[in-house]
Amino acid sequence: MQTCDEWLEMIRDLNEPISIGEAPRGLRMRWAEKRDLMAINALQGFVKETDFMEQSLRKGDRCLLLEDNRAIRAFAWVTFRDFKLALWYTLKLPPAWCYLVYVFVHPHYTRRGIASYLLGSLMKSLRESGNSRMVSGMFGNWDASIGLHHKAGFQIHRRLAQCRILNILPMPPKDEAGDEDTID
Ligand SMILES: CC(C)(COP(=O)(O)OP(=O)(O)OC[C@H]1O[C@@H](n2cnc3c(N)ncnc32)[C@H](O)[C@@H]1OP(=O)(O)O)[C@@H](O)C(=O)NCCC(=O)NCCS
Repeated sequence: MQTCDEWLEMIRDLNEPISIGEAPRGLRMRWAEKRDLMAINALQGFVKETDFMEQSLRKGDRCLLLEDNRAIRAFAWVTFRDFKLALWYTLKLPPAWCYLVYVFVHPHYTRRGIASYLLGSLMKSLRESGNSRMVSGMFGNWDASIGLHHKAGFQIHRRLAQCRILNILPMPPKDEAGDEDTID
């Protein structure tokens, strides 16, 4: 049995005007370094190995973050290399294209224009360093992310279906007394 999710790929022409809105009060912006990776990884729920993230930075990925005196509150991670999205699909990036791997704002800081500011600042900086297109991807039911991207000037580029085979686990047979068989 299969279940399918819609995956949207959105694209932004970085040569079109970019508006970034107001700088959020009390937050400073800077590029992430090796020392930030554990905190960034924790914010995104440890989906990757920190070593892998460090290697990615060494290979040229960049991550722009916003912090206050206590902690990192938001980040946006971008890569310039082909990106493996699934076993069956690697996004190929032509020269001067980049892929927004993840944008995240701490839940206590959402709905204040922080992601718009961070993403706009990232796009401006990448344009200044010669990039022409930014691609991003998200599931079709991630309304907040879709709204953010539309507001930042992205348009839908492609719609893909990601299908998974459902694991149907057989129940262990029951004996006459109704006890479940156990496997030692
Ligand atoms: C998606 C996310 C980055 C938005 O951050 P944010 O700082 O709240 O975004 P902004 O305040 O800049 O909002 C920009 C636009 O995004 C959309 N948006 C943001 N949060 C939304 C929500 N909860 N529901 C619907 N639309 C939302 C709106 O269109 C908003 O524009 P508006 O304020 O004029 O209506 C944040 O909710 C988040 O980190 N979510 C978890 C991680 C995630 O899903 N990342 C995206 C992966 S591609």
